[in-house]
Amino acid sequence: MELENLTKSYPGSPAPAVDSVTMEIEAGETVVFVGPSGCGKSTTLKMINRLIEPTSGRIRIGGEDVTDIDPVKLRRTIGYAIQASGLFPHMTVADNIALVPRMVGWSKAKVRDRVEEMLDLVGLDPREFHGRYPRQLSGGQQQRVGVARALAADPPVLLMDEPFGAVDPITRDHLQDELIRLQHELHKTIVFVTHDFDEAIKLGDRIAVLREQSHIAQFDTPEAILTNPADDFVSGFVGAGAALKRLNLARVRDVGIAEFPTVTVDDPLQTIFDRLRGGHTNELLLLDRRNRPYKWLRRGDLMRARGSLARAGTLIQGRVGLDATLRDALEAVLTDSAGRVAVTGRRGEYLGVVDMETLMNSVHEMLEEDRLAALEHQHDLEGERTHQTHLAQEGNPP
Ligand SMILES: Nc1ncnc2c1ncn2[C@@H]1O[C@H](COP(=O)(O)OP(=O)(O)OP(=O)(O)O)[C@@H](O)[C@H]1O
Ligand SMILES: [Mg+2]
Repeated sequence: MELENLTKSYPGSPAPAVDSVTMEIEAGETVVFVGPSGCGKSTTLKMINRLIEPTSGRIRIGGEDVTDIDPVKLRRTIGYAIQASGLFPHMTVADNIALVPRMVGWSKAKVRDRVEEMLDLVGLDPREFHGRYPRQLSGGQQQRVGVARALAADPPVLLMDEPFGAVDPITRDHLQDELIRLQHELHKTIVFVTHDFDEAIKLGDRIAVLREQSHIAQFDTPEAILTNPADDFVSGFVGAGAALKRLNLARVRDVGIAEFPTVTVDDPLQTIFDRLRGGHTNELLLLDRRNRPYKWLRRGDLMRARGSLARAGTLIQGRVGLDATLRDALEAVLTDSAGRVAVTGRRGEYLGVVDMETLMNSVHEMLEEDRLAALEHQHDLEGERTHQTHLAQEGNPP
């Protein structure tokens, strides 16, 4: 998608609300707009599907200039989800989702199947939610339906304007995770607006930090913006704790998972005793019958519990999966009495542990890599500039 000098002046306003935005968004990429209130994010988004007519500039999607085509037709190829879902209150959930597929003339049977599929996709049981009205749903459920509706006609492009703005942080987290999962399957081109920089980091392949009139302050990957903000305005948006935020960008599967000595509840007590007393280790991880982490057992625990495995040791509180962020892992490590967290697979089975040292080392490595990448990028830019200057000097004077 290419936006070229896209501008919107509202009648009666001295300055344009959006002033000459130019950017390219790759197919299958998620780009997040962040910026202060009133800076023109929604206006820019609505110009893309022509809910707002641009005053000047061009929009190209898939190479085709869509600036002058019928806006109604255009909107059928672009999904649109907004804050508070924007569902039609007098229509059932099913009718809301079926809206665009019906408009583009899908058969009844195809529409019906699609509605079911979409409800499943966003984690709502079709049998339960199909016939309800929006007011009979929670805010989070409404937003899910909003996303289902935006995706229903399978548009290649999806515009989302603070779609998760109106829900509590936990629901928001779930909805974000679902969007990430969906995007892994669907590879839509997504433009997503938010106020929340953490949300931008989590969802964006690239983030456009916008100032007034949608002037682009920085347009880059989350890593680059976190480690190398272009100026004070961008730093202000990143907020405190850039290094901590960087933890959201790496997953447990990216760091070295360590092995840890384990025993299972089926091992004879004597074996467990011997291993703890053997001197090689002070601590064992006790696994349950299904190979899932159950307790930390320290030397002396069994004595104190008079040889009863049921009473001995400390129950494991936190576990993380391979897809958990390092931030989640750090949280778990900090709260676990053992200073480490068990890593589990899809069915909860034990895979290994991550400890504080591993986390610290990976964060240092990540930050160092980011810093080097930023330097290289800088270097390339400078090289390019020198090259251009040379060319200009070699060329004929104007
Ligand atoms: N219909 C309109 N007529 C006149 N001015 C408008 C209109 N709609 C928006 N504006 C102005 O255009 C500017 C950009 O508005 P826009 O809604 O795009 O901001 P935003 O970045 O989405 O803000 P927020 O984060 O608060 O949603 C604002 O100054 C707003 O007052
Ligand atoms: Mg807005």
